[in-house]
Amino acid sequence: MSRPSKSDAQERILKLRALINDYRYEYHVKNNSIMSEAAADGLKHELTQLEELFPELITPDSPTQRVAGEALPQFVSVEHTSRMLSLNDVFNEAEIKAWEQRITKLLPADTKLHYFVDLKMDGFACALVYQDGKLVRGVTRGDGFVGEDVTMNVRTLDSIPLSLKHDGDPKFLSGRTEIRGEIVMYKKDFEALNKARAKAGEPLFKNPRNTAAGTVRQLDPKLVAERKLHFHAYDLQRDNAKDIPTYEFAYKTMNDLGFITNPKATTLKSTDEVIKYSESWEEKRHDLPYGTDGLVVKVNDRAVYGQLGVVGKAPRGAVAVKYAAEEATTVVKDIIISVGRTGAATPVALLHPVDVAGSTVQHASLHNQDEIERKDIRVGDTVIIFKAGDIIPQVKQVLTELRDGSEKKFDMEKELKKHPLEFVRDEGEAAWRAKDRGSPIILKRAVQHYASKGALDIEGLGEKNVELLVDAGLVKDLADIYALTKDQVLALDRFAEISATKLIEAIAEKKNPPLPRFLNGLGIRHVGIQTAIDISEQFHSMENLAKASYEDLAEVEGIGEIVAHSILEWFADESNKELMEKFAKLGVEPKIARKIEGPLTGLSFVITGSLPGIGREEAAEAIRQRGGTFQSSVGQGTTYLVHGENVGDSKRAKAEKLGVKLLPAEEFMKMLD
Ligand code: IVH
Repeated sequence: MSRPSKSDAQERILKLRALINDYRYEYHVKNNSIMSEAAADGLKHELTQLEELFPELITPDSPTQRVAGEALPQFVSVEHTSRMLSLNDVFNEAEIKAWEQRITKLLPADTKLHYFVDLKMDGFACALVYQDGKLVRGVTRGDGFVGEDVTMNVRTLDSIPLSLKHDGDPKFLSGRTEIRGEIVMYKKDFEALNKARAKAGEPLFKNPRNTAAGTVRQLDPKLVAERKLHFHAYDLQRDNAKDIPTYEFAYKTMNDLGFITNPKATTLKSTDEVIKYSESWEEKRHDLPYGTDGLVVKVNDRAVYGQLGVVGKAPRGAVAVKYAAEEATTVVKDIIISVGRTGAATPVALLHPVDVAGSTVQHASLHNQDEIERKDIRVGDTVIIFKAGDIIPQVKQVLTELRDGSEKKFDMEKELKKHPLEFVRDEGEAAWRAKDRGSPIILKRAVQHYASKGALDIEGLGEKNVELLVDAGLVKDLADIYALTKDQVLALDRFAEISATKLIEAIAEKKNPPLPRFLNGLGIRHVGIQTAIDISEQFHSMENLAKASYEDLAEVEGIGEIVAHSILEWFADESNKELMEKFAKLGVEPKIARKIEGPLTGLSFVITGSLPGIGREEAAEAIRQRGGTFQSSVGQGTTYLVHGENVGDSKRAKAEKLGVKLLPAEEFMKMLD
């Protein structure tokens, strides 16, 4: 470019800055694109060149000055003009009402309270100070009184204006204007970041909040610029408090000044409306780009809010309304070994009972020795529990900070030695298995499983009776139950004439079970009811299945390498061959699987999250009974993704990609009716 005159350059620079700034604002605050990224880059390049020619024309709010500067040796502490407070939590309707009562009592009798509500974002609090409309400082919350100066870092965030936008009341562009808000990392950016880290073999970040916090609180602005962070505003402060009469006004003003605010934040007239609002977001919030765990409810009138004062670290005039935790912390009381129907020894954590996502959790599978070591779970540890797939409780993380030295490591091998059974761990296997698969302990589990609801569903053959039958030596394998006589059963402690007759009848009734139930009942490793259904639809009989090759098996939708091998292994085992012969001799013949025709024929369903009043297995069975197909994961053939309270982002994305329809639980229940 030929050298322009300084005044021409100045004119051009101002225009370029304004346009680049408009682009940034539309893109990062309004989610709107007024030109391509390439075009905007072109403008930035021209601006940089002009500023290089005339460095004296550079201003701190020029878009070129967002570029990350040099790393700092350390952060400088800055005192907040007014304390950055926390919020007290309330968890339910009663607690919201109690809060309202408490504050009403402190106010003149005729005060009519309105509430301003916003979602509580899961991020990192930050205060931005603007002097005469220019960003002069970004400060972390710190201890509420004193924070760290992170100006260098926040300047790299595109959602933070370097100079305030000139919409609305000009008074906010003069003097000191402080904007407070939350720096958040969007869930999709967090996932992408961790994916990239996994690929590079780098340690993964725990969650978006920690990542955002850690990013803002590190000394190299270049790193901040690389991570995609967003600032969402929630508070506006001026030296003259009268400048901002209400929170509603604060949000509108912050919006005019160029900040992202939640467009759904609103003023409500009663706590009943607050409760409704809270309910309306309980599911929807999972669709937001950032994480939320509740609402922030504030008395809208800021004079009244101020009048209510502060207790401890929290203002009386606001509360956080929290949703039922999908995670909770509790203590590992003990770790025990549980032996399943296949003889696998699974370590299980016994927990102090804790509510997680609406149910009480008392134990969590720790899977295997490797998992315990990887997470370093010890007896006595305080742990974070979550529900995997919204259903199965799992230990997410140990809070090692809370250890006092009394925690005990769990030595799986040592514990296994104490167990009445002998266990072996095969090459390349994570699980320890009982050496003697015929041991009474495993046999009991196997029979219980065979008789359980998801398998043969034999009434009267629960845990206690199975124990009795096995201990009496009457049942030595699964087929033996069909050989039981009334007299044999009558001789046992718990039985009388009627109960013995009933049990024998209940068993005889199940001599021709549906093939999938029978297959599930056999307890072949990795073959649960869903796999059993998939297999049955392909092979139609035990005879066909017994003849199937690896290739035949692997062809079945939903069967992978591990399952195929497990099935082959099962049929190759001599004792299983004998068992099948024994079943046949005793007249046990599974029914050839025939597809049921019904209102759901041709439709396939995947269920995610918990459904109201109906268990997952029950729902699956209901689908099958009506001719539909139940699938364990979303695939090409899925028609509907039935969702309980929430749909995980990845599942939703996959469903959308494959054109699978999302079906809320209530609609699904109507379909079953
Ligand atoms: S208003 C007295 N609104 O939650 C503080 N805070 O537990 C009132 N937060 O420090 C702040 N989303 O970091 C407010 N929409 C929101 C928020 C929000 C997240 C954070 C904020 C605050 C903490 C209080």
